[in-house]
Amino acid sequence: MPKLLVLTGGGDCPGLNAVIRGIVKRSQKEKDWEVYGSIEAFNGVFREPNELVKLTRRRIAGIHVKGGTILKTTNKSNPIKYPVEMPDGTIKFEDRSDELVTKLKRLGFDAVINIGGDGSQKISKTLFDKGIPIIGVPKTIDNDLSATDMTFGFQTAVQIATDSFDKLVTTAESHHRVMIMEVMGRDAGWIALYAAIAGGAEICLIPEIPYDLNKVLKRIESRYKNGRGFVNIVVAEGAKPKDGAATFSKAAKGSEHVKLGGVAFTLSHQLREAGCKAEIRETVLGHIIRGGTPIAFDRVLASLFGVKAFEMVLDKEFGKMVSFKNNDITTVSLEEATRKYNFVDPDSNLVKAARGLGISFGA
Ligand code: F6P
Repeated sequence: MPKLLVLTGGGDCPGLNAVIRGIVKRSQKEKDWEVYGSIEAFNGVFREPNELVKLTRRRIAGIHVKGGTILKTTNKSNPIKYPVEMPDGTIKFEDRSDELVTKLKRLGFDAVINIGGDGSQKISKTLFDKGIPIIGVPKTIDNDLSATDMTFGFQTAVQIATDSFDKLVTTAESHHRVMIMEVMGRDAGWIALYAAIAGGAEICLIPEIPYDLNKVLKRIESRYKNGRGFVNIVVAEGAKPKDGAATFSKAAKGSEHVKLGGVAFTLSHQLREAGCKAEIRETVLGHIIRGGTPIAFDRVLASLFGVKAFEMVLDKEFGKMVSFKNNDITTVSLEEATRKYNFVDPDSNLVKAARGLGISFGA
């Protein structure tokens, strides 16, 4: 009986369960396939005894509606840079990819589907180069993968950000306040930009367009008369001032990535220092933005990705990633999938339209 291994890696994202369900449902249309899930990315394979679950019809029933991932996930188990705690408490990163390849072969998997973001797909590429028949499914709320027009989870994050923004508008208006709403997105400003357009923000600050504090202040002041007025700002967590750095918070132990967060407070401090008279409040949406149930668009995209990924297994299209291009589901090589990031182009029509709507980027 052919055996398929499925796993979710990196940060969770609404729609992961819909991908898993899509893979398993499609596999059940073929006679012999058995599908297993590795718990917590590749940790389920590393652990002895292994932590693998058989993905039966029962296990996947109705899961497309649920956020998170039934397989659990982690962003601290990159097989190429695996964090190992030393006796003195420091972390050393080890390459355990050869050990993983040996284990996957010993377990007799005929194919692996790795659902994850850019980091996970780099792992897929390494494993493919080492002989593992692997397929990637792109995932991230940040929408920063260039080989796909959109990733599932992004639209849900935008919806949550927009719903939150709408609530902040009414309270900003009631109190004549400046409301700063910080959203995730790492080095990409997609979530912030979409939410700013959808919500009707006065100011949107994104990493791709470093801001000039004086311009931000001027825009705020233009909205006040005799102390009355209000302003709603959306700031992407990676936003930074011209000639300044992004705001970092403490990275979790064992994580290979620096952790962004807190720019809403940096900005309000900068504005006060620069003489902003209006009262300012900060809201950091944090992980709320990637929790809960995926919206319909993400469920559909994720389901299509799942079905396609299994069909790629049948067609032995290994070393590739599923992709959404020009309103269609297609495939790209893992090489291409991991080549570059997808950032907001400051000269794009999207940014031009936002400017046309009166949104200031502080630049
Ligand atoms: O990449 C997804 C993301 O949610 C980013 O937007 C954010 O910077 C990061 O993950 C947060 O990571 P963690 O869940 O480890 O705090």
